[in-house]
Amino acid sequence: MTKSRKSTTNFSSTPPPSFPNTRMRRNRKEPWVRNLVEENRLSTHDLIYPVFIIEGKNRREKIDSMPDVERTTIDILLKTAENALEQGIPALALFPVIDSDKKNITGKEALNSKNLICSAIRELKKTLPEMGLICDIALDPYTIHGHDGIVDVNGKVINDETISMLCKQALVQAEAGADIVAPSDMMDGRIGAIRTTLDKNGFQDTSILSYAAKYASSFYGPFRDAVNSKNLLKGDKKTYQMNPANSDEALREVALDIQEGADMIMVKPGLPYLDIIQRVKENFAVPTFSYQVSGEYSMMKAADKNGWLSYEQTMMESLISLKRAGSDSIFTYAALDAARIIKNNI
Ligand code: PBG
Repeated sequence: MTKSRKSTTNFSSTPPPSFPNTRMRRNRKEPWVRNLVEENRLSTHDLIYPVFIIEGKNRREKIDSMPDVERTTIDILLKTAENALEQGIPALALFPVIDSDKKNITGKEALNSKNLICSAIRELKKTLPEMGLICDIALDPYTIHGHDGIVDVNGKVINDETISMLCKQALVQAEAGADIVAPSDMMDGRIGAIRTTLDKNGFQDTSILSYAAKYASSFYGPFRDAVNSKNLLKGDKKTYQMNPANSDEALREVALDIQEGADMIMVKPGLPYLDIIQRVKENFAVPTFSYQVSGEYSMMKAADKNGWLSYEQTMMESLISLKRAGSDSIFTYAALDAARIIKNNI
């Protein structure tokens, strides 16, 4: 008979040896011993760098609400990508900023195989084939109302019509060379539909990173500035993104997306949702990513600029907290800074 778990020593029920036999501070006495007993470590290979892309040549634009983050044209992006790769960052997450004359009510520019994002994918793959490219699937950069899907006359985001757009959007991006498509729209059933579309068209090897537990968060504010959708968005995204009060619901979302064929799962935002990351990782043991979103980044930058705390220190502490909770990899606007700090510390 196999030993039942109950018959093995249960450390939690044995009283721990107490002070003065145990002195927890002995393992903290010097940097080298602190390193030896360190339980979690952040590597540059865990970092995914989100970038904002604009039309044109040799242009950079500052984003007021995201200090030190820029929107750049593809030629500049190629240099950024090369630098990121040299720093050991394995992948970029690409976000296009669409000119307003290309936005419409359905977001059909998303399906144009020569649009900004597809051009960026092609150029990046041509120059840096070894850099992983993760591409957002959602209509919000392309719609005049800033929603992630198609809306009906009453302004309601309609699920199934949106899914057929998302499938085509995923297909044009896979054709352009995207390695991972990342639906961030929170429509029901889109993972299965996108998987089927990709497979039917010969893209069995294109991965799907599902934003399965994406919350209706105010921490996305600066991102909506960055992609110029803030002033367009009427209302909020609460009919499709999750209620921040819920946690069991995240597990149901994740279970469905895994069944439908997701290769990786995203929890978003990051730091306010560490409990969700931990539950997802513990329950499903699948690759679990988290997103240190724009608001998290900008809060640290703003406080640093006021001299209230250190951006570098709080950013690194947040990243290791995301790892400790169970994130395998992390999307962060601080990826280049974090990579530099990691390299200097080794
Ligand atoms: C939209 C999308 C959003 C982010 C990534 N993809 C914003 C939103 O849902 O409104 C936010 C990322 C960030 O705040 O850094 N599909």
